[in-house]
Amino acid sequence: MLKIEGINVFYGRIHALRDVSMQVTPGQVVSLVGANGAGKSTLMMALAGALKAKSGAITYDGRPLATEAHKVVGQGISLVPERRRLYANLTVRENLLMGAHLRKDAKEIEADMERMKELFPIIRERIKQYAGTLSGGEQQMVAIARGLMSRPKILLMDEPSLGLAPLIIQQVFEIIGELKSQGMTILLAEQNAFQALEISDYAYVLETGRITLSGAGQELLEDPRVQEAYLGVKAKAIEAIEATEATEATETTEATETTEAIETTEATEATGQ
Ligand SMILES: Nc1ncnc2c1ncn2[C@@H]1O[C@H](COP(=O)(O)OP(=O)(O)OP(=O)(O)O)[C@@H](O)[C@H]1O
Ligand SMILES: [Mg+2]
Repeated sequence: MLKIEGINVFYGRIHALRDVSMQVTPGQVVSLVGANGAGKSTLMMALAGALKAKSGAITYDGRPLATEAHKVVGQGISLVPERRRLYANLTVRENLLMGAHLRKDAKEIEADMERMKELFPIIRERIKQYAGTLSGGEQQMVAIARGLMSRPKILLMDEPSLGLAPLIIQQVFEIIGELKSQGMTILLAEQNAFQALEISDYAYVLETGRITLSGAGQELLEDPRVQEAYLGVKAKAIEAIEATEATEATETTEATETTEAIETTEATEATGQ
């Protein structure tokens, strides 16, 4: 169990995480949803040892989590960073090997490389290609695979759907589902709240550095506050009402004619003719 208790993180005077507490249960997909600047990446980086919390505690299976990045990886936690962060001038294979740099089991590393090619067919096709020449979606697959190459117990994924086309986003979420079914524990930061909540066992809503809501993924999907703020349900409801009105108006010719007559009168009045 990964436990975060009351952490505070600052960038100079900016208080980016305020008393954040949450936990990630083994075998679950837990998501962290929130708008731009809410603090999702800050939390991910604090976990990954790239940022230091000023106060609070992070423990993993009861022991304090390391505060240096490579030690965190050694403890079984791997970050797939926002915007992929691949080495553009290294090949796909070399990028994947970077993910395994703490491991010494050469044979097992090659076996995992094969597993990555199974999980992501595009990796097999592009294995010798420079990562910088891949499309955004392909790069995301490589970034996820690189994260997996350290054989993590927990995979931290920071906005894996960022900047990708809907079809590719679908593929990314399918991969997350596949990893979950293999028993991987995942902490997923996403602005794409609908898809993240759909796939999550548990979720936290982060707003300007604070956790404001938490609950089962399904529960949050149905929560009116989440729907209004993150799922665009209000906008969709208005669209639905407008569509119904439009249908009703064209259903009877009489009604249409009446509406047109009113509109013509209004238009005439408005232009003063
Ligand atoms: N290096 C930095 N220096 C100063 N402030 C920063 C730095 N990085 C982030 N911040 C600020 O900290 C807050 C949280 O940013 P963070 O990147 O964690 O948000 P986020 O939820 O990941 O947003 P996004 O969805 O846009 O990635 C924001 O107000 C941001 O401006
Ligand atoms: Mg971010």
